[in-house]
Amino acid sequence: MRSHANMACVLKIALAALCAAPPAGALDITLPAETASFKASNLPGYPLVQQNCLVCHSAQYVQFQPPSSPRGYWEATVRKMKKTFGAQFADEDIAAMVDYLVKTYGAERVAAGEVGASTAYARR
Ligand code: HEC
Repeated sequence: MRSHANMACVLKIALAALCAAPPAGALDITLPAETASFKASNLPGYPLVQQNCLVCHSAQYVQFQPPSSPRGYWEATVRKMKKTFGAQFADEDIAAMVDYLVKTYGAERVAAGEVGASTAYARR
Protein backbone atom coordinates (compact mmCIF):
# COMPACT_ATOMS: atom_id res chain seq x y z
CA MET A 1 0.00 0.00 0.00
CA ARG A 2 2.72 2.37 1.01
CA SER A 3 4.52 1.82 -2.27
CA HIS A 4 1.33 2.74 -4.15
CA ALA A 5 1.16 6.03 -2.36
CA ASN A 6 4.80 6.68 -3.21
CA MET A 7 4.12 5.84 -6.85
CA ALA A 8 1.28 8.34 -7.01
CA CYS A 9 3.57 10.96 -5.56
CA VAL A 10 6.27 10.23 -8.12
CA LEU A 11 3.68 10.49 -10.91
CA LYS A 12 2.51 13.89 -9.68
CA ILE A 13 6.07 15.16 -9.63
CA ALA A 14 6.64 13.83 -13.15
CA LEU A 15 3.47 15.52 -14.41
CA ALA A 16 4.43 18.78 -12.79
CA ALA A 17 7.82 18.60 -14.49
CA LEU A 18 6.14 18.00 -17.84
CA CYS A 19 3.86 21.01 -17.42
CA ALA A 20 6.81 23.18 -16.53
CA ALA A 21 8.68 22.25 -19.72
CA PRO A 22 9.21 25.08 -22.24
CA PRO A 23 6.54 25.45 -24.95
CA ALA A 24 6.91 22.99 -27.86
CA GLY A 25 7.12 25.89 -30.30
CA ALA A 26 10.73 26.43 -29.28
CA LEU A 27 11.66 23.33 -31.29
CA ASP A 28 11.59 23.83 -35.04
CA ILE A 29 11.21 20.47 -36.75
CA THR A 30 11.12 20.18 -40.54
CA LEU A 31 10.14 16.80 -41.91
CA PRO A 32 11.74 15.58 -45.13
CA ALA A 33 9.01 16.17 -47.70
CA GLU A 34 10.16 14.03 -50.60
CA THR A 35 10.94 10.72 -48.95
CA ALA A 36 7.60 9.58 -47.57
CA SER A 37 5.34 10.44 -50.49
CA PHE A 38 5.05 9.35 -54.12
CA LYS A 39 6.65 11.38 -56.91
CA ALA A 40 4.07 13.61 -58.59
CA SER A 41 3.09 12.56 -62.10
CA ASN A 42 0.48 13.11 -64.80
CA LEU A 43 0.05 9.36 -65.14
CA PRO A 44 -3.41 8.13 -64.10
CA GLY A 45 -1.81 5.73 -61.61
CA TYR A 46 -0.43 8.57 -59.48
CA PRO A 47 -3.65 9.47 -57.64
CA LEU A 48 -4.39 5.75 -57.35
CA VAL A 49 -1.15 4.87 -55.55
CA GLN A 50 -1.63 7.85 -53.26
CA GLN A 51 -5.05 6.56 -52.42
CA ASN A 52 -4.26 2.84 -52.27
CA CYS A 53 -0.65 2.39 -51.23
CA LEU A 54 -0.13 4.72 -48.28
CA VAL A 55 -2.65 3.00 -46.05
CA CYS A 56 -0.08 0.59 -44.58
CA HIS A 57 3.36 2.05 -45.30
CA SER A 58 5.05 5.11 -46.79
CA ALA A 59 6.29 5.35 -50.36
CA GLN A 60 9.76 4.45 -49.13
CA TYR A 61 9.09 0.76 -49.71
CA VAL A 62 8.58 1.62 -53.37
CA GLN A 63 11.55 3.99 -53.55
CA PHE A 64 13.93 1.33 -52.28
CA GLN A 65 13.13 -1.22 -54.98
CA PRO A 66 15.85 -1.77 -57.59
CA PRO A 67 15.43 0.88 -60.35
CA SER A 68 15.84 -1.88 -62.94
CA SER A 69 12.64 -3.59 -61.76
CA PRO A 70 10.55 -4.49 -64.82
CA ARG A 71 6.79 -4.18 -65.25
CA GLY A 72 6.23 -7.83 -64.24
CA TYR A 73 7.93 -7.22 -60.91
CA TRP A 74 5.69 -4.26 -60.11
CA GLU A 75 2.63 -6.17 -61.20
CA ALA A 76 3.58 -9.07 -58.90
CA THR A 77 4.32 -6.67 -56.04
CA VAL A 78 1.02 -4.82 -56.36
CA ARG A 79 -0.88 -8.10 -56.56
CA LYS A 80 0.99 -9.36 -53.49
CA MET A 81 -0.14 -6.27 -51.56
CA LYS A 82 -3.71 -7.22 -52.30
CA LYS A 83 -3.60 -11.01 -52.13
CA THR A 84 -1.09 -11.57 -49.34
CA PHE A 85 -1.36 -8.42 -47.26
CA GLY A 86 -5.06 -7.70 -47.81
CA ALA A 87 -4.85 -4.25 -49.43
CA GLN A 88 -8.29 -2.98 -50.37
CA PHE A 89 -8.12 -1.72 -53.93
CA ALA A 90 -10.06 -2.65 -57.06
CA ASP A 91 -8.49 -4.98 -59.65
CA GLU A 92 -9.27 -2.29 -62.25
CA ASP A 93 -6.76 0.02 -60.52
CA ILE A 94 -3.86 -2.42 -60.84
CA ALA A 95 -2.84 -1.76 -64.47
CA ALA A 96 -2.66 2.02 -64.00
CA MET A 97 -0.75 1.72 -60.72
CA VAL A 98 1.75 -0.72 -62.23
CA ASP A 99 2.20 1.63 -65.19
CA TYR A 100 2.92 4.56 -62.86
CA LEU A 101 5.30 2.50 -60.70
CA VAL A 102 7.40 1.05 -63.51
CA LYS A 103 7.64 4.45 -65.25
CA THR A 104 8.43 6.36 -62.08
CA TYR A 105 10.56 3.93 -60.06
CA GLY A 106 11.31 0.98 -62.35
CA ALA A 107 12.80 -0.09 -65.65
CA GLU A 108 10.65 2.19 -67.85
CA ARG A 109 11.63 5.48 -66.21
CA VAL A 110 13.33 6.76 -69.36
CA ALA A 111 10.22 6.18 -71.44
CA ALA A 112 8.27 8.35 -69.00
CA GLY A 113 10.25 11.39 -70.10
CA GLU A 114 13.07 11.60 -67.58
CA VAL A 115 15.19 12.98 -70.41
CA GLY A 116 17.51 15.00 -68.20
CA ALA A 117 18.34 12.01 -66.07
CA SER A 118 18.82 9.64 -68.98
CA THR A 119 21.11 11.96 -70.96
CA ALA A 120 23.21 12.63 -67.88
CA TYR A 121 23.51 8.89 -67.44
CA ALA A 122 24.43 8.34 -71.12
CA ARG A 123 27.22 10.93 -71.01
CA ARG A 124 29.01 9.18 -68.21
C1 HEC B 1 -2.84 -3.79 -46.48
C2 HEC B 1 -1.60 -3.10 -46.23
C3 HEC B 1 -0.78 -2.72 -47.46
C4 HEC B 1 -1.15 -1.94 -48.53
C5 HEC B 1 -2.47 -1.22 -48.76
C6 HEC B 1 -0.01 -1.89 -49.41
N1 HEC B 1 1.05 -2.58 -48.86
FE1 HEC B 1 2.92 -2.73 -49.64
N2 HEC B 1 3.50 -3.85 -48.06
C7 HEC B 1 2.66 -4.27 -47.03
C8 HEC B 1 3.40 -5.19 -46.17
C9 HEC B 1 2.85 -5.86 -44.93
C10 HEC B 1 4.67 -5.31 -46.75
C11 HEC B 1 5.79 -6.23 -46.33
C12 HEC B 1 6.60 -5.74 -45.23
C13 HEC B 1 7.76 -6.65 -45.06
O1 HEC B 1 7.94 -7.60 -45.82
O2 HEC B 1 8.52 -6.37 -44.16
C14 HEC B 1 4.71 -4.45 -47.91
C15 HEC B 1 5.84 -4.27 -48.70
C16 HEC B 1 5.88 -3.51 -49.86
C17 HEC B 1 7.03 -3.36 -50.71
C18 HEC B 1 8.42 -3.91 -50.42
C19 HEC B 1 8.77 -5.05 -51.28
C20 HEC B 1 8.02 -6.29 -50.96
O3 HEC B 1 7.65 -6.97 -51.93
O4 HEC B 1 7.80 -6.62 -49.78
C21 HEC B 1 6.63 -2.61 -51.78
C22 HEC B 1 7.47 -2.20 -52.97
C23 HEC B 1 5.24 -2.29 -51.58
N3 HEC B 1 4.82 -2.84 -50.40
C24 HEC B 1 4.49 -1.54 -52.46
C25 HEC B 1 3.13 -1.28 -52.31
C26 HEC B 1 2.33 -0.63 -53.32
C27 HEC B 1 2.83 -0.14 -54.65
C28 HEC B 1 1.06 -0.54 -52.81
C29 HEC B 1 -0.16 0.00 -53.50
C30 HEC B 1 -0.55 -0.71 -54.71
C31 HEC B 1 1.08 -1.15 -51.48
N4 HEC B 1 2.37 -1.60 -51.22
C32 HEC B 1 0.00 -1.23 -50.63
C33 HEC B 1 1.37 -3.88 -46.81
C34 HEC B 1 0.62 -3.11 -47.68
